[in-house]
Amino acid sequence: MPTTPPNILTPSLLSSDFSRIGEELVALEQAGLEWVHWDVMDGAFVPNITFGPPVIKACRKRSRLFFDVHLMIQEPDRYLADFVDAGANMLCVHAEACVHLERTVSEISRLGAKVGVALNPHTPLNMVEYLLPQLDMVLVMTVNPGFGGQSFIPFTMHKVRQLRAMIQEIGAETFIQVDGGVTPDNIRELADHGANVFVSGSAFFGYPPYADRLETFMRAVNKS
Ligand code: DX5
Ligand code: ZN
Repeated sequence: MPTTPPNILTPSLLSSDFSRIGEELVALEQAGLEWVHWDVMDGAFVPNITFGPPVIKACRKRSRLFFDVHLMIQEPDRYLADFVDAGANMLCVHAEACVHLERTVSEISRLGAKVGVALNPHTPLNMVEYLLPQLDMVLVMTVNPGFGGQSFIPFTMHKVRQLRAMIQEIGAETFIQVDGGVTPDNIRELADHGANVFVSGSAFFGYPPYADRLETFMRAVNKS
């Protein structure tokens, strides 16, 4: 993971072709992407089910991309080691799904992965306030988790700004990831508010070729 916060686009495989995830990963790498976002859903924390460690492990063999794994599962502690063994580079757990969040965060670091905490749109930022020095990233959900293709929730824009201020106050460089309804039309405003890691599912995979789409997002975020 880079040390300075550049702008990173991390395509969400939720919107990819599940019958050929391996080839999708190869195509992303060839298109110049460096990160990829895995949405793990358990049908309990969110009303949808996707994939787990065996799928990630099989795909790890075909990709050198940074695997950014978003765990939308209850009691993620049960599976942290499995996901790291499968090849996850970063594990992002939901604050709402962890009773002892500090313990979970420490365990992810001990296992050798980068660590992130995700917050649902309505969850206050103070859930992560004391943990910020231990976190590589905070994921601000900009839709309610569970599905791709939803509309961006406007009040989360202000939340991103408040979080960047909290991070700056302690002199940290913690990444801020935004996830849900991110498009070339709102990416610049999100960056201006302090986000630097952008998940995109439907607005990315729906517009091949991937190299051109990456360029469209990057041009939008860097425009002066
Ligand atoms: C939603 C997931 C997102 C989703 C984003 O629960 O966490 O990563 O794939 O999809 P879009 O970009 O289509 O909103
Ligand atoms: Zn996600």
